[in-house]
Amino acid sequence: MDRSIKIAPSILASDFANFGLECEAIEAEGCDWVHVDVMDGHFVPNITFGPATCAAIRPHIKTVMDVHLMIAPVDGFLKDFADAGADVLTIHAEAGPHLHRSLQYIRDLGCKAGVALNPSTPASAIEYVIDLIDLVCVMTVNPGFGGQKFIHSQVAKVEQLRAMIGERPIHIEIDGGITPQTAPLMAAAGADVLVAGSAVFKGGSVTNPAPYGENIRAIRSAAQAACK
Ligand code: DX5
Ligand code: ZN
Repeated sequence: MDRSIKIAPSILASDFANFGLECEAIEAEGCDWVHVDVMDGHFVPNITFGPATCAAIRPHIKTVMDVHLMIAPVDGFLKDFADAGADVLTIHAEAGPHLHRSLQYIRDLGCKAGVALNPSTPASAIEYVIDLIDLVCVMTVNPGFGGQKFIHSQVAKVEQLRAMIGERPIHIEIDGGITPQTAPLMAAAGADVLVAGSAVFKGGSVTNPAPYGENIRAIRSAAQAACK
């Protein structure tokens, strides 16, 4: 499995009127995955968009469409997001009582299955589903908004997850408050996918995308330096 550092810009911090062009711009500027944040105003205190928007974005993504579902109950919507073209479907461990069943269903739909853990949720939440997942997403902010402050206590959780995962082909993704300053802490702890919204999109636009590339390279090189 590819454990090299991958940068996944969150389009939550992009121009909502230009999702297609924004996805093309970040890919042209060197991102590895595209992170798509779906919020329902119920599981989290914010609303973004649903499967129709994901389907509209899909043709503009050549890399990996990484869909983070902050919705509950989630099961009734999984097929819609799979049909919209998600490569990875990540659900929250806290979003329902039947995590095992939901993960099986995601794989049956042909997607990679991810579990996201809120800052207060222990690493042990994935213990009995570890062989059903392709990714664990450690939330380093409380989900719902971009631009929040990184929660340092999550470094220890990533170290625990790295030990639990061993040689299994499971990505450790970090979501929230990632910058060139915080990325190295998580790379050293064992993370390989770094989601970044504000820190990638700041200073740029679809007509001036060069800052996206500079921001991506700054996060990547800081993280890579910590992996040695
Ligand atoms: C938060 C989202 C994140 C968010 C990250 O609920 O899941 O993906 O967009 O944004 P930044 O990088 O600005 O913290
Ligand atoms: Zn996210």
